[in-house]
Amino acid sequence: MTVNETFEQLVLEADLNSPAPEVEPARQAWFLARAREIVQRRSQAAGRKLTCRVETFGCQMNARDSEKIIGILRSAGFEEAASEDADFLVYNTCTVRDNADQRVFGRLGRAGHLKKNREGMKIAVCGCMVQEKTNVEKIQKSYRFVDLIFGTHNLYRFPEYLSACLESEGMVIEIWDRADRIVEALPTARKYPFKSGTNITFGCNNFCSYCIVPYVRGRERSRQPVEILRECERLAADGVVEIMLLGQNVNSYGKDLDISCTFADLLTEVCKIEGIRRVRFMTPHPKDLSDDVIRAVRDNEKIARHIHLPLQSGSDRILKRMNRRYTKEQYIDLALKIRREIPDVSITTDIIVGFPGENDDDIDDTIDVVRRVGFDNAFTFIYSKRAGTPAAKMPDQVPEAEKNRMFNRVLAAVQETAHGRADRLTGRIMEALAEEVNVKDSRYITARLSNNMLVHVPGDPSMIGKMLQVRLDECRGFYFFGTVVGE
Ligand code: 5AD
Ligand code: SF4
Repeated sequence: MTVNETFEQLVLEADLNSPAPEVEPARQAWFLARAREIVQRRSQAAGRKLTCRVETFGCQMNARDSEKIIGILRSAGFEEAASEDADFLVYNTCTVRDNADQRVFGRLGRAGHLKKNREGMKIAVCGCMVQEKTNVEKIQKSYRFVDLIFGTHNLYRFPEYLSACLESEGMVIEIWDRADRIVEALPTARKYPFKSGTNITFGCNNFCSYCIVPYVRGRERSRQPVEILRECERLAADGVVEIMLLGQNVNSYGKDLDISCTFADLLTEVCKIEGIRRVRFMTPHPKDLSDDVIRAVRDNEKIARHIHLPLQSGSDRILKRMNRRYTKEQYIDLALKIRREIPDVSITTDIIVGFPGENDDDIDDTIDVVRRVGFDNAFTFIYSKRAGTPAAKMPDQVPEAEKNRMFNRVLAAVQETAHGRADRLTGRIMEALAEEVNVKDSRYITARLSNNMLVHVPGDPSMIGKMLQVRLDECRGFYFFGTVVGE
Protein backbone atom coordinates (compact mmCIF):
# COMPACT_ATOMS: atom_id res chain seq x y z
CA MET A 1 0.00 0.00 0.00
CA THR A 2 1.25 3.49 -0.78
CA VAL A 3 0.67 5.39 2.41
CA ASN A 4 1.21 9.06 2.13
CA GLU A 5 3.23 9.72 5.25
CA THR A 6 1.98 13.27 5.73
CA PHE A 7 -1.61 12.06 5.56
CA GLU A 8 -0.91 9.20 7.97
CA GLN A 9 0.62 11.74 10.35
CA LEU A 10 -2.61 13.76 10.15
CA VAL A 11 -4.61 10.62 10.99
CA LEU A 12 -2.41 9.83 13.98
CA GLU A 13 -2.62 13.42 15.23
CA ALA A 14 -6.40 13.74 14.79
CA ASP A 15 -8.09 14.86 18.01
CA LEU A 16 -11.35 12.98 18.15
CA ASN A 17 -12.49 14.94 21.21
CA SER A 18 -12.69 18.11 19.13
CA PRO A 19 -15.00 18.59 16.16
CA ALA A 20 -13.75 17.56 12.70
CA PRO A 21 -11.55 20.24 11.10
CA GLU A 22 -13.01 22.14 8.13
CA VAL A 23 -9.85 22.11 6.00
CA GLU A 24 -8.82 19.27 3.69
CA PRO A 25 -7.16 16.84 3.83
CA ALA A 26 -7.09 17.19 7.67
CA ARG A 27 -10.87 16.70 7.73
CA GLN A 28 -10.68 13.33 5.96
CA ALA A 29 -7.78 12.30 8.19
CA TRP A 30 -9.98 13.01 11.23
CA PHE A 31 -12.81 10.87 9.86
CA LEU A 32 -10.40 8.09 8.96
CA ALA A 33 -9.16 8.10 12.57
CA ARG A 34 -12.77 7.85 13.72
CA ALA A 35 -13.52 5.01 11.28
CA ARG A 36 -10.43 3.20 12.60
CA GLU A 37 -11.79 3.35 16.14
CA ILE A 38 -15.16 1.97 15.12
CA VAL A 39 -13.65 -0.82 13.00
CA GLN A 40 -11.30 -1.78 15.81
CA ARG A 41 -14.15 -1.91 18.33
CA ARG A 42 -16.28 -4.06 16.04
CA SER A 43 -13.40 -6.37 15.18
CA GLN A 44 -12.79 -6.95 18.89
CA ALA A 45 -16.47 -7.64 19.51
CA ALA A 46 -16.60 -10.07 16.57
CA GLY A 47 -13.31 -11.73 17.50
CA ARG A 48 -12.05 -11.42 13.91
CA LYS A 49 -10.92 -8.80 11.43
CA LEU A 50 -13.68 -7.05 9.50
CA THR A 51 -13.51 -7.62 5.76
CA CYS A 52 -14.10 -5.44 2.71
CA ARG A 53 -14.55 -5.99 -1.00
CA VAL A 54 -14.59 -3.52 -3.89
CA GLU A 55 -16.15 -4.65 -7.18
CA THR A 56 -15.06 -2.53 -10.12
CA PHE A 57 -16.86 -1.99 -13.42
CA GLY A 58 -15.67 -0.03 -16.44
CA CYS A 59 -12.48 1.73 -17.39
CA GLN A 60 -8.96 2.31 -16.07
CA MET A 61 -10.14 5.46 -14.29
CA ASN A 62 -12.54 3.41 -12.23
CA ALA A 63 -9.86 0.82 -11.56
CA ARG A 64 -7.68 3.61 -10.18
CA ASP A 65 -10.54 5.02 -8.08
CA SER A 66 -11.08 1.54 -6.65
CA GLU A 67 -7.45 1.42 -5.56
CA LYS A 68 -8.12 4.62 -3.62
CA ILE A 69 -11.27 3.18 -2.03
CA ILE A 70 -9.46 -0.03 -1.03
CA GLY A 71 -6.55 2.06 0.29
CA ILE A 72 -8.92 3.94 2.59
CA LEU A 73 -10.76 0.79 3.71
CA ARG A 74 -7.49 -0.97 4.51
CA SER A 75 -6.22 2.07 6.31
CA ALA A 76 -9.45 2.04 8.37
CA GLY A 77 -8.63 -1.54 9.43
CA PHE A 78 -10.54 -3.73 6.99
CA GLU A 79 -8.96 -6.78 5.42
CA GLU A 80 -9.72 -7.60 1.80
CA ALA A 81 -12.12 -10.52 1.25
CA ALA A 82 -12.01 -12.92 -1.68
CA SER A 83 -15.71 -12.57 -2.46
CA GLU A 84 -18.64 -10.19 -2.13
CA ASP A 85 -19.59 -11.86 1.14
CA ALA A 86 -17.79 -9.15 3.13
CA ASP A 87 -18.54 -6.69 5.95
CA PHE A 88 -18.12 -3.64 3.72
CA LEU A 89 -19.01 -4.15 0.07
CA VAL A 90 -18.52 -1.41 -2.55
CA TYR A 91 -19.74 -1.38 -6.15
CA ASN A 92 -17.73 1.13 -8.17
CA THR A 93 -19.94 1.48 -11.21
CA CYS A 94 -19.74 2.44 -14.87
CA THR A 95 -22.54 3.87 -16.98
CA VAL A 96 -20.95 4.22 -20.41
CA ARG A 97 -23.29 1.59 -21.87
CA ASP A 98 -26.65 0.38 -20.64
CA ASN A 99 -25.55 -3.24 -20.10
CA ALA A 100 -23.04 -2.00 -17.48
CA ASP A 101 -25.95 -0.51 -15.48
CA GLN A 102 -27.96 -3.71 -15.78
CA ARG A 103 -25.07 -5.83 -14.54
CA VAL A 104 -24.71 -3.68 -11.43
CA PHE A 105 -28.42 -3.95 -10.60
CA GLY A 106 -28.20 -7.74 -10.99
CA ARG A 107 -25.23 -7.95 -8.66
CA LEU A 108 -26.82 -5.58 -6.15
CA GLY A 109 -29.87 -7.82 -5.95
CA ARG A 110 -27.66 -10.74 -4.97
CA ALA A 111 -25.74 -8.61 -2.47
CA GLY A 112 -29.07 -7.89 -0.73
CA HIS A 113 -29.41 -11.62 -0.03
CA LEU A 114 -25.88 -11.83 1.36
CA LYS A 115 -26.69 -8.97 3.72
CA LYS A 116 -29.55 -10.92 5.28
CA ASN A 117 -27.07 -13.48 6.55
CA ARG A 118 -24.29 -11.14 7.60
CA GLU A 119 -25.05 -8.92 10.57
CA GLY A 120 -23.77 -5.37 10.30
CA MET A 121 -22.88 -5.71 6.59
CA LYS A 122 -22.72 -2.39 4.75
CA ILE A 123 -23.21 -1.94 1.01
CA ALA A 124 -22.02 1.14 -0.91
CA VAL A 125 -22.57 2.13 -4.54
CA CYS A 126 -20.35 4.79 -6.12
CA GLY A 127 -18.93 5.79 -9.50
CA CYS A 128 -20.43 7.05 -12.74
CA MET A 129 -23.80 5.31 -12.55
CA VAL A 130 -24.94 7.18 -9.46
CA GLN A 131 -24.14 10.56 -11.02
CA GLU A 132 -27.43 9.94 -12.85
CA LYS A 133 -30.43 10.87 -10.78
CA THR A 134 -32.69 8.14 -12.12
CA ASN A 135 -30.27 5.46 -10.96
CA VAL A 136 -30.13 6.91 -7.44
CA GLU A 137 -33.92 7.02 -7.35
CA LYS A 138 -34.08 3.40 -8.47
CA ILE A 139 -31.70 2.35 -5.68
CA GLN A 140 -33.67 4.33 -3.10
CA LYS A 141 -36.88 2.70 -4.21
CA SER A 142 -35.95 -0.87 -5.04
CA TYR A 143 -32.63 -1.52 -3.27
CA ARG A 144 -33.34 -0.01 0.13
CA PHE A 145 -30.70 -2.17 1.82
CA VAL A 146 -27.94 0.00 0.28
CA ASP A 147 -26.20 2.01 3.02
CA LEU A 148 -24.10 4.53 1.11
CA ILE A 149 -24.20 6.22 -2.29
CA PHE A 150 -21.53 8.71 -3.35
CA GLY A 151 -20.47 10.12 -6.71
CA THR A 152 -17.30 10.61 -8.71
CA HIS A 153 -16.54 14.21 -7.67
CA ASN A 154 -16.49 13.63 -3.93
CA LEU A 155 -14.53 10.37 -3.77
CA TYR A 156 -11.91 12.14 -1.67
CA ARG A 157 -14.55 12.43 1.09
CA PHE A 158 -14.93 8.66 1.35
CA PRO A 159 -13.42 8.56 4.89
CA GLU A 160 -16.17 10.95 6.02
CA TYR A 161 -18.94 8.88 4.41
CA LEU A 162 -17.40 5.65 5.68
CA SER A 163 -17.45 6.89 9.22
CA ALA A 164 -21.04 8.23 8.88
CA CYS A 165 -22.19 4.97 7.38
CA LEU A 166 -20.56 2.85 10.12
CA GLU A 167 -22.28 4.97 12.77
CA SER A 168 -25.76 5.32 11.33
CA GLU A 169 -28.48 3.02 10.12
CA GLY A 170 -30.12 5.04 7.31
CA MET A 171 -28.92 5.46 3.72
CA VAL A 172 -26.10 8.03 3.38
CA ILE A 173 -26.31 9.75 -0.02
CA GLU A 174 -24.05 12.45 -1.36
CA ILE A 175 -23.67 13.24 -5.04
CA TRP A 176 -22.12 16.42 -6.37
CA ASP A 177 -22.69 17.95 -9.80
CA ARG A 178 -19.11 19.07 -10.10
CA ALA A 179 -15.73 18.78 -8.42
CA ASP A 180 -14.69 21.54 -6.04
CA ARG A 181 -11.02 20.61 -5.97
CA ILE A 182 -8.45 17.92 -6.61
CA VAL A 183 -7.47 16.46 -3.25
CA GLU A 184 -4.13 14.70 -3.19
CA ALA A 185 -2.61 12.58 -0.47
CA LEU A 186 -5.19 9.96 0.49
CA PRO A 187 -3.92 6.38 0.79
CA THR A 188 -4.18 3.96 -2.16
CA ALA A 189 -3.82 0.18 -2.32
CA ARG A 190 -2.34 -0.91 -5.62
CA LYS A 191 -3.66 -4.02 -7.28
CA TYR A 192 -0.20 -4.82 -8.63
CA PRO A 193 2.93 -3.92 -6.63
CA PHE A 194 4.96 -3.32 -9.81
CA LYS A 195 2.61 -1.21 -11.93
CA SER A 196 0.22 1.62 -11.32
CA GLY A 197 -2.07 4.10 -13.02
CA THR A 198 -1.84 7.80 -12.26
CA ASN A 199 -4.55 10.30 -13.08
CA ILE A 200 -3.29 13.28 -15.02
CA THR A 201 -6.66 14.79 -15.89
CA PHE A 202 -10.16 14.24 -14.60
CA GLY A 203 -13.33 14.76 -16.67
CA CYS A 204 -13.81 15.53 -20.34
CA ASN A 205 -14.74 18.62 -22.39
CA ASN A 206 -15.29 16.93 -25.73
CA PHE A 207 -18.98 16.11 -25.59
CA CYS A 208 -19.02 13.38 -28.22
CA SER A 209 -22.75 13.19 -28.85
CA TYR A 210 -23.17 9.55 -27.71
CA CYS A 211 -21.11 9.82 -24.55
CA ILE A 212 -22.28 10.22 -20.96
CA VAL A 213 -18.77 10.77 -19.54
CA PRO A 214 -18.73 14.61 -19.66
CA TYR A 215 -22.00 14.61 -17.69
CA VAL A 216 -20.90 12.16 -15.01
CA ARG A 217 -17.21 13.02 -14.71
CA GLY A 218 -17.59 16.76 -15.28
CA ARG A 219 -15.31 19.32 -16.91
CA GLU A 220 -11.70 18.59 -17.60
CA ARG A 221 -9.22 19.37 -14.82
CA SER A 222 -5.47 18.74 -15.00
CA ARG A 223 -3.43 17.82 -11.97
CA GLN A 224 -0.36 19.96 -11.34
CA PRO A 225 2.75 18.44 -12.98
CA VAL A 226 4.66 18.55 -9.69
CA GLU A 227 1.94 16.52 -7.98
CA ILE A 228 2.00 13.91 -10.77
CA LEU A 229 5.79 13.71 -10.79
CA ARG A 230 5.94 13.49 -7.00
CA GLU A 231 3.43 10.65 -7.06
CA CYS A 232 5.39 8.82 -9.79
CA GLU A 233 8.61 9.23 -7.79
CA ARG A 234 6.91 7.84 -4.71
CA LEU A 235 5.58 4.91 -6.74
CA ALA A 236 9.02 4.22 -8.23
CA ALA A 237 10.55 4.26 -4.75
CA ASP A 238 7.90 1.75 -3.75
CA GLY A 239 8.86 -0.72 -6.48
CA VAL A 240 6.65 0.37 -9.37
CA VAL A 241 8.35 -0.07 -12.76
CA GLU A 242 5.42 0.71 -15.07
CA ILE A 243 3.20 3.78 -14.91
CA MET A 244 0.05 4.44 -16.92
CA LEU A 245 -0.91 8.10 -17.27
CA LEU A 246 -4.69 8.30 -17.26
CA GLY A 247 -7.09 10.86 -18.69
CA GLN A 248 -10.20 10.94 -20.90
CA ASN A 249 -8.19 12.93 -23.42
CA VAL A 250 -4.55 13.04 -22.42
CA ASN A 251 -3.65 15.40 -25.31
CA SER A 252 -5.38 18.28 -23.64
CA TYR A 253 -3.34 17.84 -20.46
CA GLY A 254 -2.15 21.16 -19.06
CA LYS A 255 -4.36 23.42 -21.17
CA ASP A 256 -6.27 24.53 -18.08
CA LEU A 257 -3.16 25.11 -15.94
CA ASP A 258 -1.60 28.52 -15.39
CA ILE A 259 1.87 27.17 -16.13
CA SER A 260 3.04 25.85 -19.48
CA CYS A 261 3.29 22.05 -19.52
CA THR A 262 2.03 20.01 -22.47
CA PHE A 263 1.31 16.30 -22.44
CA ALA A 264 4.55 15.69 -24.39
CA ASP A 265 6.48 17.64 -21.70
CA LEU A 266 4.86 15.60 -18.97
CA LEU A 267 5.63 12.30 -20.72
CA THR A 268 9.27 13.28 -21.10
CA GLU A 269 9.54 14.25 -17.43
CA VAL A 270 7.95 11.03 -16.19
CA CYS A 271 10.45 9.04 -18.28
CA LYS A 272 13.32 10.73 -16.44
CA ILE A 273 12.30 9.21 -13.10
CA GLU A 274 14.77 6.61 -11.99
CA GLY A 275 13.26 3.17 -11.53
CA ILE A 276 10.41 3.75 -13.99
CA ARG A 277 11.09 1.37 -16.88
CA ARG A 278 7.89 1.75 -18.89
CA VAL A 279 5.32 4.50 -19.37
CA ARG A 280 1.89 4.03 -20.92
CA PHE A 281 -0.93 6.46 -21.52
CA MET A 282 -4.66 6.24 -22.11
CA THR A 283 -6.49 7.80 -24.01
CA PRO A 284 -5.42 10.23 -26.73
CA HIS A 285 -8.13 11.77 -28.94
CA PRO A 286 -7.36 11.61 -32.68
CA LYS A 287 -8.46 15.23 -33.19
CA ASP A 288 -5.44 16.66 -31.39
CA LEU A 289 -2.71 14.04 -31.01
CA SER A 290 0.29 16.29 -31.66
CA ASP A 291 3.53 15.59 -33.49
CA ASP A 292 5.29 16.40 -30.21
CA VAL A 293 3.65 13.41 -28.55
CA ILE A 294 4.48 11.11 -31.48
CA ARG A 295 8.08 12.35 -31.32
CA ALA A 296 8.21 11.86 -27.56
CA VAL A 297 7.12 8.24 -27.98
CA ARG A 298 9.53 7.66 -30.86
CA ASP A 299 12.52 9.12 -29.05
CA ASN A 300 11.92 7.59 -25.68
CA GLU A 301 12.45 3.87 -25.33
CA LYS A 302 10.62 3.86 -22.02
CA ILE A 303 7.32 4.87 -23.59
CA ALA A 304 5.29 1.85 -24.61
CA ARG A 305 5.02 1.07 -28.32
CA HIS A 306 1.26 1.12 -28.09
CA ILE A 307 -1.25 3.80 -29.00
CA HIS A 308 -4.92 3.32 -28.31
CA LEU A 309 -6.61 5.67 -30.75
CA PRO A 310 -10.41 5.47 -30.63
CA LEU A 311 -11.88 5.66 -34.15
CA GLN A 312 -15.57 5.27 -33.19
CA SER A 313 -16.61 5.42 -36.87
CA GLY A 314 -15.00 5.59 -40.30
CA SER A 315 -17.87 7.50 -41.89
CA ASP A 316 -17.49 11.27 -42.20
CA ARG A 317 -21.23 11.72 -41.91
CA ILE A 318 -21.42 9.73 -38.66
CA LEU A 319 -18.21 11.25 -37.28
CA LYS A 320 -19.79 14.68 -37.72
CA ARG A 321 -22.96 13.64 -35.94
CA MET A 322 -20.81 12.08 -33.20
CA ASN A 323 -19.04 15.46 -32.82
CA ARG A 324 -15.63 13.79 -33.13
CA ARG A 325 -14.03 16.66 -35.03
CA TYR A 326 -11.92 14.65 -37.49
CA THR A 327 -12.61 13.00 -40.84
CA LYS A 328 -11.95 9.49 -42.04
CA GLU A 329 -8.92 10.57 -44.08
CA GLN A 330 -7.49 12.66 -41.23
CA TYR A 331 -7.71 9.63 -38.96
CA ILE A 332 -6.03 7.35 -41.50
CA ASP A 333 -3.24 9.91 -42.13
CA LEU A 334 -2.61 10.15 -38.41
CA ALA A 335 -2.56 6.39 -37.87
CA LEU A 336 -0.20 5.85 -40.82
CA LYS A 337 2.07 8.65 -39.57
CA ILE A 338 2.24 6.93 -36.18
CA ARG A 339 3.16 3.64 -37.88
CA ARG A 340 5.83 5.37 -39.98
CA GLU A 341 7.38 7.27 -37.09
CA ILE A 342 7.27 4.59 -34.41
CA PRO A 343 8.57 1.21 -35.58
CA ASP A 344 6.87 -1.82 -33.98
CA VAL A 345 4.04 0.29 -32.59
CA SER A 346 0.72 -1.40 -32.11
CA ILE A 347 -2.39 0.65 -32.74
CA THR A 348 -5.66 -0.38 -31.12
CA THR A 349 -9.03 1.27 -31.26
CA ASP A 350 -12.65 1.55 -30.12
CA ILE A 351 -15.51 1.38 -32.62
CA ILE A 352 -19.20 2.05 -32.04
CA VAL A 353 -21.70 0.37 -34.34
CA GLY A 354 -25.37 1.29 -34.72
CA PHE A 355 -25.16 5.01 -34.01
CA PRO A 356 -28.40 6.84 -34.97
CA GLY A 357 -28.78 7.06 -38.74
CA GLU A 358 -25.96 4.62 -39.44
CA ASN A 359 -26.39 2.36 -42.47
CA ASP A 360 -24.34 -0.17 -44.46
CA ASP A 361 -22.56 2.55 -46.45
CA ASP A 362 -21.22 3.98 -43.19
CA ILE A 363 -20.16 0.52 -42.07
CA ASP A 364 -18.31 0.11 -45.39
CA ASP A 365 -16.31 3.23 -44.50
CA THR A 366 -15.53 1.90 -41.02
CA ILE A 367 -14.38 -1.42 -42.47
CA ASP A 368 -12.25 0.47 -44.99
CA VAL A 369 -10.41 2.21 -42.12
CA VAL A 370 -10.02 -1.08 -40.28
CA ARG A 371 -8.37 -2.61 -43.37
CA ARG A 372 -6.21 0.39 -44.28
CA VAL A 373 -4.89 0.97 -40.77
CA GLY A 374 -4.68 -2.71 -39.84
CA PHE A 375 -5.49 -2.39 -36.16
CA ASP A 376 -3.66 -4.71 -33.83
CA ASN A 377 -6.85 -4.99 -31.82
CA ALA A 378 -10.21 -3.26 -31.74
CA PHE A 379 -12.95 -3.10 -29.13
CA THR A 380 -16.26 -2.97 -30.97
CA PHE A 381 -19.34 -1.78 -29.11
CA ILE A 382 -23.00 -1.72 -30.05
CA TYR A 383 -24.31 1.84 -29.68
CA SER A 384 -26.15 2.25 -26.41
CA LYS A 385 -28.56 5.12 -25.96
CA ARG A 386 -27.64 7.22 -22.92
CA ALA A 387 -30.36 9.52 -21.60
CA GLY A 388 -29.29 13.16 -21.55
CA THR A 389 -26.83 12.90 -24.45
CA PRO A 390 -27.60 14.60 -27.81
CA ALA A 391 -27.51 11.28 -29.71
CA ALA A 392 -30.27 9.87 -27.53
CA LYS A 393 -32.62 12.52 -28.94
CA MET A 394 -31.75 11.85 -32.59
CA PRO A 395 -34.88 10.59 -34.36
CA ASP A 396 -33.28 7.90 -36.53
CA GLN A 397 -32.33 5.32 -33.87
CA VAL A 398 -31.29 2.01 -35.45
CA PRO A 399 -33.36 -1.11 -34.62
CA GLU A 400 -31.56 -3.70 -32.43
CA ALA A 401 -31.53 -6.40 -35.13
CA GLU A 402 -29.89 -3.98 -37.60
CA LYS A 403 -27.30 -2.95 -35.03
CA ASN A 404 -26.43 -6.60 -34.39
CA ARG A 405 -26.12 -7.36 -38.08
CA MET A 406 -23.83 -4.38 -38.73
CA PHE A 407 -21.84 -5.20 -35.58
CA ASN A 408 -21.11 -8.68 -36.94
CA ARG A 409 -19.84 -7.18 -40.20
CA VAL A 410 -17.38 -4.93 -38.36
CA LEU A 411 -16.32 -7.68 -35.99
CA ALA A 412 -15.48 -10.02 -38.89
CA ALA A 413 -13.32 -7.32 -40.52
CA VAL A 414 -11.54 -6.57 -37.24
CA GLN A 415 -10.78 -10.22 -36.58
CA GLU A 416 -9.57 -10.77 -40.13
CA THR A 417 -7.08 -7.87 -40.01
CA ALA A 418 -5.91 -8.19 -36.41
CA HIS A 419 -5.28 -11.89 -36.76
CA GLY A 420 -1.80 -12.43 -38.07
CA ARG A 421 -0.58 -8.89 -37.29
CA ALA A 422 1.20 -10.22 -34.24
CA ASP A 423 2.95 -12.89 -36.28
CA ARG A 424 5.37 -10.32 -37.74
CA LEU A 425 7.15 -10.33 -34.37
CA THR A 426 7.66 -14.12 -34.12
CA GLY A 427 11.31 -14.98 -33.49
CA ARG A 428 12.16 -11.53 -32.08
CA ILE A 429 13.62 -10.97 -28.62
CA MET A 430 11.66 -8.30 -26.76
CA GLU A 431 11.32 -6.87 -23.28
CA ALA A 432 8.31 -8.13 -21.32
CA LEU A 433 7.06 -7.31 -17.83
CA ALA A 434 6.10 -10.48 -15.93
CA GLU A 435 2.65 -9.78 -14.50
CA GLU A 436 1.04 -12.92 -13.13
CA VAL A 437 0.88 -16.68 -13.01
CA ASN A 438 -0.93 -17.90 -16.12
CA VAL A 439 -4.57 -18.43 -15.21
CA LYS A 440 -4.87 -21.68 -17.18
CA ASP A 441 -1.50 -23.30 -16.49
CA SER A 442 0.46 -22.40 -13.37
CA ARG A 443 3.74 -23.57 -14.91
CA TYR A 444 3.63 -20.45 -17.07
CA ILE A 445 3.99 -16.76 -16.27
CA THR A 446 2.11 -14.17 -18.31
CA ALA A 447 4.16 -11.16 -19.32
CA ARG A 448 3.27 -8.00 -21.25
CA LEU A 449 5.27 -6.61 -24.16
CA SER A 450 5.76 -2.91 -24.64
CA ASN A 451 3.15 -3.05 -27.44
CA ASN A 452 0.62 -4.42 -24.90
CA MET A 453 0.57 -7.97 -26.32
CA LEU A 454 0.89 -10.90 -23.94
CA VAL A 455 3.52 -13.62 -23.96
CA HIS A 456 3.38 -16.77 -21.83
CA VAL A 457 6.73 -18.13 -20.67
CA PRO A 458 7.65 -21.16 -18.57
CA GLY A 459 8.54 -19.82 -15.13
CA ASP A 460 7.60 -19.34 -11.50
CA PRO A 461 6.04 -16.62 -9.34
CA SER A 462 9.45 -15.24 -8.29
CA MET A 463 9.64 -13.67 -11.76
CA ILE A 464 6.55 -11.49 -11.24
CA GLY A 465 7.30 -7.77 -11.44
CA LYS A 466 10.55 -8.30 -13.35
CA MET A 467 11.35 -6.93 -16.77
CA LEU A 468 12.50 -9.95 -18.82
CA GLN A 469 14.11 -10.47 -22.21
CA VAL A 470 11.82 -12.91 -23.97
CA ARG A 471 12.12 -14.70 -27.30
CA LEU A 472 8.73 -14.86 -29.04
CA ASP A 473 8.70 -18.48 -30.20
CA GLU A 474 5.16 -19.04 -31.33
CA CYS A 475 2.32 -16.71 -32.27
CA ARG A 476 -1.20 -17.78 -31.35
CA GLY A 477 -3.15 -15.00 -33.04
CA PHE A 478 -3.24 -12.26 -30.43
CA TYR A 479 -0.60 -13.62 -28.03
CA PHE A 480 2.67 -15.58 -27.93
CA PHE A 481 4.41 -18.44 -26.25
CA GLY A 482 8.02 -17.58 -25.54
CA THR A 483 11.21 -18.32 -23.64
CA VAL A 484 13.07 -16.13 -21.21
CA VAL A 485 16.57 -15.43 -22.52
CA GLY A 486 17.69 -12.84 -19.99
CA GLU A 487 16.73 -10.10 -17.54
N1 5AD B 1 -22.57 3.37 -26.71
C1 5AD B 1 -21.63 2.46 -27.07
N2 5AD B 1 -20.32 2.63 -26.83
C2 5AD B 1 -19.94 3.76 -26.20
N3 5AD B 1 -18.73 4.21 -25.83
C3 5AD B 1 -18.89 5.39 -25.21
N4 5AD B 1 -20.18 5.74 -25.17
C4 5AD B 1 -20.86 4.73 -25.79
C5 5AD B 1 -22.24 4.51 -26.08
N5 5AD B 1 -23.19 5.38 -25.73
C6 5AD B 1 -17.49 3.50 -26.13
C7 5AD B 1 -16.55 4.36 -26.98
C8 5AD B 1 -15.45 4.71 -26.02
C9 5AD B 1 -15.43 3.51 -25.11
C10 5AD B 1 -14.77 3.71 -23.81
O1 5AD B 1 -16.81 3.22 -24.93
O2 5AD B 1 -16.06 3.55 -28.04
O3 5AD B 1 -14.21 4.93 -26.67
FE1 SF4 C 1 -16.65 10.42 -24.11
FE2 SF4 C 1 -15.65 11.64 -26.28
FE3 SF4 C 1 -14.88 12.45 -23.81
FE4 SF4 C 1 -14.07 10.06 -24.75
S1 SF4 C 1 -13.55 12.08 -25.61
S2 SF4 C 1 -14.90 10.49 -22.69
S3 SF4 C 1 -15.83 9.39 -25.96
S4 SF4 C 1 -16.94 12.60 -24.67
